[in-house]
Amino acid sequence: MKLLITGGAGFIGANFVHHTLRKHPDREILCLDALTYAGNLETLKGALTADNFKFIKGDIADRETVFSLFESERPDAVVNFAAESHVDRSIDNPDIFLRTNILGTGVLLDACRKYPVRRFHQVSTDEVYGDLPLDRTDLFFTEETPIHTSSPYSASKAAADLLVLAYHRTYKLPVSISRCSNNYGPYHFPEKLIPLMIVNAMADKSLPVYGKGENVRDWLYVEDHCEAIDLILGGGREGEVYNIGGHNERTNLAVVKTILRELGKSESLITYVADRLGHDLRYAIDPKKIGEELGWTPRTGFDEGIKKTVRWYEDNRDWWEGVMSGEYRAYYAKHYGGI
Ligand code: NAD
Ligand code: DAU
Repeated sequence: MKLLITGGAGFIGANFVHHTLRKHPDREILCLDALTYAGNLETLKGALTADNFKFIKGDIADRETVFSLFESERPDAVVNFAAESHVDRSIDNPDIFLRTNILGTGVLLDACRKYPVRRFHQVSTDEVYGDLPLDRTDLFFTEETPIHTSSPYSASKAAADLLVLAYHRTYKLPVSISRCSNNYGPYHFPEKLIPLMIVNAMADKSLPVYGKGENVRDWLYVEDHCEAIDLILGGGREGEVYNIGGHNERTNLAVVKTILRELGKSESLITYVADRLGHDLRYAIDPKKIGEELGWTPRTGFDEGIKKTVRWYEDNRDWWEGVMSGEYRAYYAKHYGGI
């Protein structure tokens, strides 16, 4: 099987590339990635030298690039990770989110119509469901929860999901969608909560917590997400949506304090800063469907996963110092001001 993985130089896409090379050495993998600030070839080191792996630098929203790749390579299946993924950046500048996340997905879908594939899998997010109240811990997102987005990022991901489902209904394209909760683990770009807090704490810098730190996220170790997508590709039903999450809900403050404890650093590094605009309160996934249909369960609990992740950042300083480019430093200075 020839698998096209888009966005494979980013956090989850690269973990999925490594996962697939390990689990399916017989598969041929093509990786299409524009190498934005979030994509890095260092993250694919190891894969780049494999005979069954090929990297192509290109933009999923560029129709000519995508169609000529499909014409020459004829992939059997596509997994679309490519996206602008950071909520705060979408609040600052929505435009690129609309182009990549919506138009880019549309271009890939059109290419799959012209050059038929066995499966187009869209990697989506629990953020398309909006948020849940903090005081209703009995409520969870199911696949039937209505789409109700909050940020330009989540709105763009929801629009892409609707396009994917429309191409299934209208053109009978063999699609599937997964909506996952917050991931963490190796190669996570240090603009997101967990890696940012780890690298700041290691450098004894302030840890900027939005609002009161009471918002809740449902954390999943990235390897468990990769395993779930692999199972959906193998046996998930066409036209279906699968929620992915491991019941690891934590407040942001609890996450930050756990990281500080792991690193032996003082809680005095915590700095409360202005809240995110439109900040979603709580995400919590009900993963019953993927468990019952495909036998997926997460293997890594939060306590084990966070220890592994902290150790990974301690052991891979070169990687995260390398990806924190000039562009990232300018973003940090603008977004977090003086801290
Ligand atoms: P990321 O920002 O780390 O990586 C995105 C990758 O896409 C980068 O390699 C980037 O270069 C590439 N890319 C961006 N624009 C592109 C374009 N126009 N053409 C080709 N490549 C482009 O993102 P991530 O955290 O790895 O997320 C991957 C996917 O998973 C996204 O679709 C995201 O919405 C979804 N998701 C993420 C999480 C999470 O917790 N990070 C959870 C659920 C779903
Ligand atoms: O739920 C899945 C989503 O998880 C994915 O679709 C997104 O691509 C991914 O970025 C992530 O979105 P979040 O907005 O939940 O993740 P982030 O790491 O940006 O923030 C997690 C929580 O931490 C959120 O409540 C905001 C808060 N936060 C974040 C940063 C960067 C802070 O308190 N301080 C910070 O500096």
